[in-house]
Amino acid sequence: MANQSLRLDFSNMMADFVGNERGITRKEIDNLSPKAVSIASDIETRRQSGEVGFYQLPYDTEAASQIEKMASAFKANCDDFVILGIGGSALGATAIFRSLCHPLHNLISKTGRNGSPRVFVLDNIDPSTFKAVLDFINPEKTVFNVITKSGSTTETLSQFLIVRKMLTDRLGKEAVKKHIVVTTGAGQLKSLAEEEGFPLLPVPENVGGRFSVFSAVGLFPAAMFGVDITSLLAGAREMDERCRTNRLWQNPAYLDGALHYLADVKKGLNIAVMMPYSDALFQVGFWFRQLWAESLGKAKDLSGKWANVGQTPVVASGVTDQHSQLQLYSEGPFNKMITFLTVENHGEIMPIPSQSQQKEFISYLGGHNLEELMKIEAQSTRIALTKAGRSNMSLILPEINEFTIGQLLFLLEVQTVFTGGLYYVNPLDQPGVEASKQFIYGMMGRKGFEDKAKEARVWHERRHTYII
Ligand code: PA5
Repeated sequence: MANQSLRLDFSNMMADFVGNERGITRKEIDNLSPKAVSIASDIETRRQSGEVGFYQLPYDTEAASQIEKMASAFKANCDDFVILGIGGSALGATAIFRSLCHPLHNLISKTGRNGSPRVFVLDNIDPSTFKAVLDFINPEKTVFNVITKSGSTTETLSQFLIVRKMLTDRLGKEAVKKHIVVTTGAGQLKSLAEEEGFPLLPVPENVGGRFSVFSAVGLFPAAMFGVDITSLLAGAREMDERCRTNRLWQNPAYLDGALHYLADVKKGLNIAVMMPYSDALFQVGFWFRQLWAESLGKAKDLSGKWANVGQTPVVASGVTDQHSQLQLYSEGPFNKMITFLTVENHGEIMPIPSQSQQKEFISYLGGHNLEELMKIEAQSTRIALTKAGRSNMSLILPEINEFTIGQLLFLLEVQTVFTGGLYYVNPLDQPGVEASKQFIYGMMGRKGFEDKAKEARVWHERRHTYII
């Protein structure tokens, strides 16, 4: 088998490629090395003590094989698989689904899907979409996976209540247990699921939502999609080995983090664009967008001082967004760095036919193929941006398979935690999301949040003078 290791080409981030004003120098990276050693040692201590749990997930092959068994039992009578979850409880599964399943998974035959069900991810509560999916599926042949680590997320709990009632009305109370799998932590939803007899999957306490893709949160859906989770975990382990060194120049995740950090704090590039040149990797961009934003966008640093840090992550699609965003990226403000995700072997090439008697304006395309064109377009974009002094780098996947996707997701998780260390913030919490949650509880009438309901009313009733 050809070399399946991911590579990071960061040449176009460096001063000798994009110029001294925004390019990063070797010295700047060297200067971060002592900090990297101390962050690495802190991470290792927290990993060993079990405080940060996601590092060990790829090694839990026992849990993975239980998940495989459970998924194959559920798949026997399942035409449709519906995920109810939000944020870290949905984005990882969606990224895996889009990258490793057939692009038209839900439209091809069940045989073409190797017996896997159709897949719907309901990570929003828009009533129209929700109703449309519930009207479409046949409850007798559907498995709903309710995923919520806290077990208290309003959106997911509301979805759960609707689905449970629908299933009870249509199939009877006893049958519901065969159609709902609950993936949750140690909260009250777990007790409820136990009381009602729903099959349960755990989310370890020391694994945060957006770092949970290699737990049952991502693995059970992946197994339902027909993804080989053993290879996915093997890819993550391979990346873990590469990312365990504290030597910045040798650690792809640390180097990637250091480049983002330097680009932001030293060069003013506070927007991080991820631009996959592969439709399959587009959703990885959205998974990363949450990871980067929620982990690093922080008001205070670890000493409690105001910091207000964090790069704004943006997702763009190669080649489509060459005809939408590239103009801005090449000529707009110098505030962006771009990470291209590229694939060496797409698996399909789609030859462009040559036909004699074609006019010159079109005949030059004949004999080439779409894979080649996609690669040439990625290359041209890189060259044009570099020539214009725009910092960019490439994460290169030899091909898209379970092993490389496992590497990619794990790399980005480690990169995020390490970069949290560079910014000196806690990458594992999300206090900024809490304020809105409290207002939701108050306005939805949850006991204990009456003061929040009152406060929300005051804000809501303020006269809005600026409406036309
Ligand atoms: O990363 C996180 O912790 C969050 O994005 C959560 O995943 C999200 O808020 C959903 O939380 P829960 O899984 O508790 O429903």
